Amino acid sequence: MKILKTTKELIDYRKSFTCSVGFVPTMGALHHGHISLIKEALKNNEKTIVSIFVNPTQFLAGEDFESYPNRYEADVKICELAGVDVLFMPTKDEIYFKDEPNILAPMKQSYILEGYQRPKHFDGVLQVVLKLLNLTKPTNAYFGKKDAQQLFLIQNMVKTLFLDTNIVPCEIVRDEYGLALSSRNTYLDDKEKKEALKLSKSLKIASQEIMRGELETEYIKVTMREILAPLHVEYIEAVDRKFNKIENIELKNSIILVATKVGKTRLIDNIWI
Ligand code: PAJ
Repeated sequence: MKILKTTKELIDYRKSFTCSVGFVPTMGALHHGHISLIKEALKNNEKTIVSIFVNPTQFLAGEDFESYPNRYEADVKICELAGVDVLFMPTKDEIYFKDEPNILAPMKQSYILEGYQRPKHFDGVLQVVLKLLNLTKPTNAYFGKKDAQQLFLIQNMVKTLFLDTNIVPCEIVRDEYGLALSSRNTYLDDKEKKEALKLSKSLKIASQEIMRGELETEYIKVTMREILAPLHVEYIEAVDRKFNKIENIELKNSIILVATKVGKTRLIDNIWI
């Protein structure tokens, strides 16, 4: 496995690939969610590039940028054992310039839900993903459904900016109790981990209610809120697959999303109905 730290090295090395290239962008502290994306990339492309870059522009002031988990050595081992061809680990100065064009996420779908709680977060996500896609020029790029709004906005960017990459959505990986894997789960103590299970439980009950024929969003939200109590809920929402809020669940075209705080840790989860 090649470990590349500069954009020049990556651009030069990328030129030697004339085959299909899979790309998995991450912020590191790799877990089985990330690994499932990497496995998909390895299965369906001749070469696989993984990036690890904790992108400062997608963190708001007061968020966990400074304390974001760093598992450098373990991450390198995971990528190596998996069979990754290139691990790209740039510094901030490799990626960002003093004065550069602003990338603004679309107003409508990026200032609701996650974007409402974290204004400008998606500007930073799209800015870095666009740079990484331009550097790696992948045939296929892999993103988790866990970050459903991020996935939607990236698909939208690729379509509207006519980028030549296929975006591949990947299923949410959970632990044996249902908790969606996240690098931020490492912040949770044992008691908080138990509380955090309420997110997936509320989504599971919601989907059971829907299968019973309860399609009204408001009813689903009230049911979920009862299960999540006393956690601090930032939002519970149902949207269609284009991220328009909906009053009634449409089967095979809806996503129910939830964001809560468990102690000091912010957790998100969702289910595709
Ligand atoms: P990060 O949180 O490290 O996640 C990297 C990728 O892994 C994202 O596509 C995310 O949706 C996916 N992922 C995380 N947890 C998952 C799980 N439990 N199951 C399946 N996939 C999961 O998302 C980011 O980094 C950044 O915003 C990034 C896209 C790298 C831009 O900086």
